[in-house]
Amino acid sequence: MAQLPDWLLLVFHEREPYPRRVPLEDAYANLELPSSDGDRPFVYLNMVQTLDGQAVLEGTAFKIGTDVDHYLLRQLRVHADAVLYGAGTLRKDDVIVTTHPPLQERRKQQGRSPNPPAIVVSATCEFAPEVFKKKFFARTDYAKLIVTTPRAQRRDVERVVDAGVPVEVIPAGEDGSVDIPSLMKFLAGRGVRRLLCEGGPTLNVALARDGAMDELFLTTALRLGGDPEAPRIFVEPVTNYSLQLISEFRFEEHDKVRELYFRFRFLPKNR
Ligand SMILES: NC(=O)c1ccc[n+]([C@@H]2O[C@H](COP(=O)([O-])OP(=O)(O)OC[C@H]3O[C@@H](n4cnc5c(N)ncnc54)[C@H](OP(=O)(O)O)[C@@H]3O)[C@@H](O)[C@H]2O)c1
Repeated sequence: MAQLPDWLLLVFHEREPYPRRVPLEDAYANLELPSSDGDRPFVYLNMVQTLDGQAVLEGTAFKIGTDVDHYLLRQLRVHADAVLYGAGTLRKDDVIVTTHPPLQERRKQQGRSPNPPAIVVSATCEFAPEVFKKKFFARTDYAKLIVTTPRAQRRDVERVVDAGVPVEVIPAGEDGSVDIPSLMKFLAGRGVRRLLCEGGPTLNVALARDGAMDELFLTTALRLGGDPEAPRIFVEPVTNYSLQLISEFRFEEHDKVRELYFRFRFLPKNR
């Protein structure tokens, strides 16, 4: 890992003074995020994209951002009661959920698990043999759960359970995928008040269309992916929101801007 910078430049904040340097370890570690409204958790999405909008580069999201993006990704997890993923991200990439050791300590002092649990939604619970070799199944330093639907075959559920990951069945929506309102109710019932979603782009569409999205943390890498066919952070139109900028940080190195970090609030269009 390259040396991390000591600070980021806060170039805009809706409530705090700017511009000013903020220690990297404070960028997103002390946010006072809203909590559940009772029906569903507060949902914040964290994604990374190239400047031309690619959410996948050479088959993964990890290659898009710098080490600072990876650092902030782990920092944002300190606030989460759970971290949500679509099954596509587990199949094509991997699902590893850890935060930084000092933030793990903070969580422990709050009576929480050191790392938030990872929850993967899959209507089918069907995973190819190579998926069972991923770190998601091997790691023991965070809890895991797969949420599926009655569509799942019993043998597929058993394969996941035998691999050490519990499975919960909740209703399917009209299109056969995991029903988002039922998922939100299930998570709220499990005490999830703040839910971090780390993608992928297909799940993002479903959450946004069901109104289950409150904030977006978006890293924009200053590089071009050059592949117009690559998925964007939403792979289908989501037009029922406008975005309000809450904050923007920049990573500067040798007087050059390396990467941009935006935080947005989703506003329903009629507000
Ligand atoms: N740029 C970033 O920040 C970022 C973040 C995360 C992932 N990624 C990249 O995104 C790619 C994977 O994205 P993806 O769009 O293919 O997959 P995804 O959004 O992670 O997962 C989609 C899958 O989730 C399951 N699912 C269950 N209920 C659903 C619902 N209500 N709505 C949508 N999906 C539901 C479906 O699988 P079943 O058939 O099993 O039900 C569906 O195919 C990977 O290459 C990964 O690297 C990028």
